Amino acid sequence: MAALKAIVLGAGYRGRAYSDYAAAHPDQLEIVGVADPLQADTIPAPRKWTDWRDCLAERPEADIVMITMPDDLHHEPALIALEAGYHLLLEKPISPTEAECREVIAKAQEKGKLVLVGHVLRYTRYFAHIKAIIDSGEIGDVVTINHQESAGFWKIAHAYVRGIFANSEKASPIILAKCSHDFDLFAWWLGCRCRRVSSFGSIKLFRPENAPAGATERCIDCPESIRRHCLWDAHKMYLDFDELRYLFADSSFGAMHKLIRDSPYGRCVYHCDNDVPDHQTVIMEFDGGATVTHTMTGFTGRNVRTTRISGTRGEIIGDGDVLDVRRFDGGDLETGVPPAFCIKNSSRHGGGDFNLVAEMLRILRRNDPDEINRVTAEALESHVIAFAAERSRLAGGQVVEID
Ligand SMILES: NC(=O)c1ccc[n+]([C@@H]2O[C@H](COP(=O)([O-])OP(=O)(O)OC[C@H]3O[C@@H](n4cnc5c(N)ncnc54)[C@H](O)[C@@H]3O)[C@@H](O)[C@H]2O)c1
Repeated sequence: MAALKAIVLGAGYRGRAYSDYAAAHPDQLEIVGVADPLQADTIPAPRKWTDWRDCLAERPEADIVMITMPDDLHHEPALIALEAGYHLLLEKPISPTEAECREVIAKAQEKGKLVLVGHVLRYTRYFAHIKAIIDSGEIGDVVTINHQESAGFWKIAHAYVRGIFANSEKASPIILAKCSHDFDLFAWWLGCRCRRVSSFGSIKLFRPENAPAGATERCIDCPESIRRHCLWDAHKMYLDFDELRYLFADSSFGAMHKLIRDSPYGRCVYHCDNDVPDHQTVIMEFDGGATVTHTMTGFTGRNVRTTRISGTRGEIIGDGDVLDVRRFDGGDLETGVPPAFCIKNSSRHGGGDFNLVAEMLRILRRNDPDEINRVTAEALESHVIAFAAERSRLAGGQVVEID
């Protein structure tokens, strides 16, 4: 069977992550065009454009449009691409506003097209393994889930204090941008809908009044005596520490130095235009009465998700590398995670990036309208929970009912 054809709109970190699948499996997927004003050349393809509009205006022959541009460039190209008859691999969030999210999903359903949103976690072997344990019935019915996204002190500063997700005027709420993956997991694991939500969260640390005395607006100007003790000094984060380099196509010493000197990433973390919380907790009630608590916090030394799922007959406790499953009637079902399932042992979001593309290709080849409609509709659930959580947080934790 011939490879399915895809166009990529946005050749940044996510565009490259999904396009790499075509390089690894050319018999299954072919990238026939790439649009990006800055780095279209980072993905091999016969056609290139500098803007998504020019690309879609030509209606290139393809099955799939991958939309991997910034959050505010999802909604309009999604509607145009669906109208033109393409299926979408659409990065999360569908859009920064709930009305636009609903509009995209409604358009896909009207056109009978698939929208697969980049909820990569459910495609990792680790989280899929948890789903299989729940579905096996070994721990009975799920009653509570306690989950924490430990965002990592460096990641929160990079993206949500200095970076493009830091200001709510320009970006999606952090609880959508960072945690739609987690809400997607809860709804998927439980197999039902969330009905009520309450949430609290604020900026605990990254405020001007918490800056050390004498700290300057940019790290490059800050006295060495202050920088030495600052965890978030841009020199440490972008020169000494490898954790953020993979986000940049050019992570050479010179490029990182320029970034610190000239870009928003060189700003002092206490003197940015950030207004999104650095920690937020959400309480949810699902159909049937199961309750879930989810905490997102930027104050962690590891970038992991920890999960505790209590069922009527047993429990699951895991952190991506260790998984304990116990039945209350005696005997551990399993302890430890098979090495191939460990998040840290599998590259590209724990294998989720490639598995998501593979799942999209499987669904399109099968071409079952009911499946296409169901998968498309499911993508909205995580977003609806996130928007409800943000409404609750802004109303001081008031309970928000979801229709
Ligand atoms: N699923 C996940 O786990 C995950 C992780 C990170 C980011 N994301 C989401 O993926 C999306 C992309 O994030 P990223 O980290 O790849 O960002 P990025 O900045 O690395 O890439 C975005 C690309 O879009 C390009 N672009 C901007 N305007 C354009 C236009 N008019 N036409 C064509 N291209 C244009 C930019 O030049 C850039 O190369 C965002 O919506 C983000 O929220 C998802």
